[in-house]
Amino acid sequence: MNSVFNQHISIDFPNDISLIIKREDLIHPFVSGNKFRKLKYNLLQAKVEKKDTLLTFGGAFSNHIAAVAFAGKEQGFKTIGIIRGDELFDKIEGNPTLKFAQENGMQFEFVSREEYRLKSEISFLEKLKNKFGDFYLVPEGGTNELAVKGCEEILTDEDSVFDYVCCAVGTGGTISGLINSSKENQKILGFPALKGDFLKDEIRIFAKKDNWDLISDYHFGGYGKVNLELIEFINAFFEQTKVPLDPIYTGKMVFGVIDLIGKKYFPAHSKILLIHTGGLQGIDGMNIKLKQKKLPILITND
Ligand SMILES: Cc1ncc(COP(=O)(O)O)c(C=O)c1O
Repeated sequence: MNSVFNQHISIDFPNDISLIIKREDLIHPFVSGNKFRKLKYNLLQAKVEKKDTLLTFGGAFSNHIAAVAFAGKEQGFKTIGIIRGDELFDKIEGNPTLKFAQENGMQFEFVSREEYRLKSEISFLEKLKNKFGDFYLVPEGGTNELAVKGCEEILTDEDSVFDYVCCAVGTGGTISGLINSSKENQKILGFPALKGDFLKDEIRIFAKKDNWDLISDYHFGGYGKVNLELIEFINAFFEQTKVPLDPIYTGKMVFGVIDLIGKKYFPAHSKILLIHTGGLQGIDGMNIKLKQKKLPILITND
């Protein structure tokens, strides 16, 4: 694990607002941000249970799939990825995430979207056990109790100076960990990367406090959806701060926070901590899509 640090964002904001970003993306080149946190205790548990195979679920550009493939290889596990979309089976070469996962030893099973929806059903999991043998199940997005325990380690004692802690939300595991290790006087704000009202209920399963809220205005049309404004924002933010953001999660969250600062959502002198949850591996895949749509691509280096 590389060390994580809090980086001051040197942009002048109104009302003496200060913005700091926790560079969890720098933890590890391939198991970055919340992926590292979520897998830490799960991989230990898989070893305790003497499992030699990890099985998990994800979409075509999933950060989680890439991280499980790499972490599994490093720790001596076989890995199986159940991938949403049976049309993808012959498109691995053109998909940087799947290619990376396969190069790191992951075996794929491509399933239709209908079948993918059965991912938590016992009968579907039994079918997978008959096919692949015994495995340690890492749920989609990696979220379970052990993942939340890992995410509780993101905030440290020094972070108690912040009034707000902001993060992107997919399955709700990361924000749950942040809530559990936050101080009562801090407010945890989650920015869902997808549409839907179900997330609050998911978070309530794991979160032990009420000092949080979701801000659902910055999903840009839904999971994986982007537009020119978002791409230009991410590129301008990188130019100004040298902090790369991913277009699926952290880019939308940081866009939202800065937009809300402009709208005076935060009281004067607020100290805001943004959690950089990684996800940068997804940029190559997004750039392929952006080129096809004749949109500008995301810039990640000078
Ligand atoms: C980069 C990144 N940030 C944030 C999230 C959201 O985390 P969670 O699913 O725990 O809500 C994800 C998805 O897991 C992610 O890949």
